[in-house]
Amino acid sequence: MTGKDNRKTFHIQTFGCQMNVRDSETLAGMLEELGFAESKNKREADVAVINTCSVRENADQKFFGTLGQLKKIKEERPDFVVAVCGCMMQQQHIVDTLKEKYPWVDLIFGTHNIHEFPRLLTNVISERKKIVDIWDNSEDIIEGLPSKREFPFKAYVNIMYGCNNFCTYCIVPYTRGRERSRRPEEIINEIRNLAASGVKEVKLLGQNVNSYGVGCDFNTDFADLIGQINEIEGIERIRFTTSHPKDLSDKLIEAFRTCEKLCPSIHLPVQSGSTAVLRRMNRKYTKEEYLDLVGKLKAAVPDIAITTDIIVGFPGETDEDFNDTLDLVERVRFDSAFTFLYSIRKGTPAEKYKDQVPEAVKHERFNRLVELQNKISAEINKACEGKVFPVLVEGPSKTNPKNYSGRTETGKLVHFRGSPDLIGQIVPVRITEGKTFALFGERVEE
Ligand code: 5AD
Ligand code: SF4
Repeated sequence: MTGKDNRKTFHIQTFGCQMNVRDSETLAGMLEELGFAESKNKREADVAVINTCSVRENADQKFFGTLGQLKKIKEERPDFVVAVCGCMMQQQHIVDTLKEKYPWVDLIFGTHNIHEFPRLLTNVISERKKIVDIWDNSEDIIEGLPSKREFPFKAYVNIMYGCNNFCTYCIVPYTRGRERSRRPEEIINEIRNLAASGVKEVKLLGQNVNSYGVGCDFNTDFADLIGQINEIEGIERIRFTTSHPKDLSDKLIEAFRTCEKLCPSIHLPVQSGSTAVLRRMNRKYTKEEYLDLVGKLKAAVPDIAITTDIIVGFPGETDEDFNDTLDLVERVRFDSAFTFLYSIRKGTPAEKYKDQVPEAVKHERFNRLVELQNKISAEINKACEGKVFPVLVEGPSKTNPKNYSGRTETGKLVHFRGSPDLIGQIVPVRITEGKTFALFGERVEE
């Protein structure tokens, strides 16, 4: 089946984090270089790629659900090519299951050999054979890969790959390998080119951006890198994710004051408010140290928005531990939080921990936490009413097509009456209503 212009077509389905979204942009760029056109519908595509996530069990389940749908298409059209990649493929038991139960999958590759995708896919198609190619690790960073970015005005930029932290619940260090940083000149070059093509906002990506450059043969740390990006003409907003609290430096806090383009927002995953649980998670900070850090951030940048990740029901979490999490949430007053039920990951240290929390207890705690956080988010957003914020307009709202939506510097979603010519512009919007998950407002004529 071919697109309107006779090109063969591809469809990519992406699960998981922003790293995966960025990888999928690279895969899409490579497919376009091979002459494929993107199709919005996998039923019509010639090649379907699933970029998987293994951070929690429900991501695994969604992947196998998607494979079920693809099997039906494959039965109708044997030429349909199915490729799977991403974090799940770095786990041997998953690849074994695929080989055994899903032998019709044409191509399996991992997170370390994405750059090989064009060659692998070409071989699969021309030789009509199945390929499984997973690399255990990689120290190299391959520069200059093509990409098809989603927005012309904002872009994700990888600054580093992998993770060395080995939090005891987390699979990422095993699926993404050891930490390695891109050279600053490569990053600056990429961002200069993005700015020249009209990009106003960059989001710097890494599993722990605060350890950018550690152990490298160059002398640029994360705060220095932000300082350099701040000088790039055309770039108006700099964001980053994600930050490990143990590595957040005073120098970075200072960068919020000195770099006017650095947005006053930080995603600072706390995971738990209990020092005992944090120790078993191998997070290397205490509840008090986290609260001190938040105090420093708020003192330096009074309007900073702080968001977080919290895991509920980590093995051994007692009522008292959980109350510590609630207490921390009340004290910090996060703008928003991603809350997760602890999910056992094969091969991680916590898999072996004896005192797993019963599901019912996990759910009950989870609901209480979400209720508290939603109340705080609603209060913070209500306090925005009447204020005017610069909003980078992204496009029509997903919920109400009469509205347009965009983000404040603090990362809050704003819906307002707009027009297509505003897409990609930064416009002032007065907030008329602050709800739990979004703000509503009206454009202020300049
Ligand atoms: N169970 C639940 N949540 C997890 N996360 C990572 N591993 C797990 C797990 N095994 C969460 C953490 C992390 C976010 C990306 O996913 O909160 O910050
Ligand atoms: Fe996982 Fe911890 Fe690394 Fe984040 S810092 S990716 S939670 S091991």
